[in-house]
Amino acid sequence: PPLSEVLNLHDFEYIAKLVMPEKGWAYYSSAADDEITHRENHAAYHRIWFRPRILRDVTQVDWSTTILGHKSSMPIYISATALGKLGHPDGELNLTRAAAKHGIIQMIPTLASCSFDEILDSAKPGQVQFFQLYVNKDRNITKRIVQHAEERGIKGLFITVDAPQLGRREKDMRMKFEAEDPSEVSKAGSDGVDRTQGAARAISSFIDPGLCWNDIKWFKSITSMPLILKGVQCWEDAMEAYDYGLAGVVLSNHGGRQLDFSRSGIEVLAEVVENLKKRRGLSFPNDKFQLFIDGGVRRATDILKAVALGATAVGIGRPFLYAFSTYGEDGVNKALQILHDEFEMNMRLLGAPTLRNVVPEMVDISNLRSH
Ligand code: FNR
Repeated sequence: PPLSEVLNLHDFEYIAKLVMPEKGWAYYSSAADDEITHRENHAAYHRIWFRPRILRDVTQVDWSTTILGHKSSMPIYISATALGKLGHPDGELNLTRAAAKHGIIQMIPTLASCSFDEILDSAKPGQVQFFQLYVNKDRNITKRIVQHAEERGIKGLFITVDAPQLGRREKDMRMKFEAEDPSEVSKAGSDGVDRTQGAARAISSFIDPGLCWNDIKWFKSITSMPLILKGVQCWEDAMEAYDYGLAGVVLSNHGGRQLDFSRSGIEVLAEVVENLKKRRGLSFPNDKFQLFIDGGVRRATDILKAVALGATAVGIGRPFLYAFSTYGEDGVNKALQILHDEFEMNMRLLGAPTLRNVVPEMVDISNLRSH
């Protein structure tokens, strides 16, 4: 169908399933085990209801924000997703270009199909980008990657902490991964590639399951980029991250691709905000320690619920993959335009002229808990 018929982010998934090559569809859409967490990620948003306010002047509405001190036209960023070329020959560059056009931030994955430098070179001067890090067993490799990222001007290092081992994604495992085209995976760190268990397993054997809190000190000694842990799933670990002096955490279960029956990011967010207020006197959002969430975000209303609860911004993964797999960069631009339009309308209907007016009292979370 022509792009003009795409009305929301769900449509991209529907079309991707129809038109994408099997291998790419399996890798992008798959999630762990019975995919319960994958479904819960989106479903959890259905348990939160709005309490809009009336008679506030919403002639002008503004949903721009700052993420780790950098301007963003929306409270979202493009989350790191590996292997962009399984969906489109330009891979991650589709995201880089669309992010520039719309003034949002792209998180570049360690396992991008395009090389890191190619992605940086295709960015506009001054374009802010983050980097997602998988930590190699060989710390010298990791050190080189991190310091290169900093030299090239990366503004935030998101260390993935929910993948000491890759989850079982059975849809993907059924596809024997044959990287006929070596350019599908950049050299970012893949050694000992096992091609018999799907794309995910094939590229991830270098990741260090020995990573622990002690390593945080080491990271601080090799870089001055803000450090954020991606994949925190309870308030205890969020508080530990704060106590270690990190810049923030992403409350995430990796799009349901790791531990099945992990809770949704939005549910964990409510718990983290409550406990860090009680135990550390923090209120959110704040500039010192920022909360991000991702997983299952498909509508501006989802994003506004997260902002109301205290998130600085939310990450979006699959919708952008499906958008460029079906329509290239135009698809990503369209996805961002859709979110833009949804923000404008929903902020008016909420009675919130700016994101500062999107407060906890605007959401009813009495049904949020999954138990
Ligand atoms: C991911 N994600 C991910 N995360 C990460 O830290 N490193 C990675 O290499 C990848 N790769 C990856 C590939 C694919 C195909 C998907 C779908 C996801 C997780 C990603 O950053 C994010 O947490 C989720 O995608 C968010 O959920 P949604 O928006 O896809 O529902």
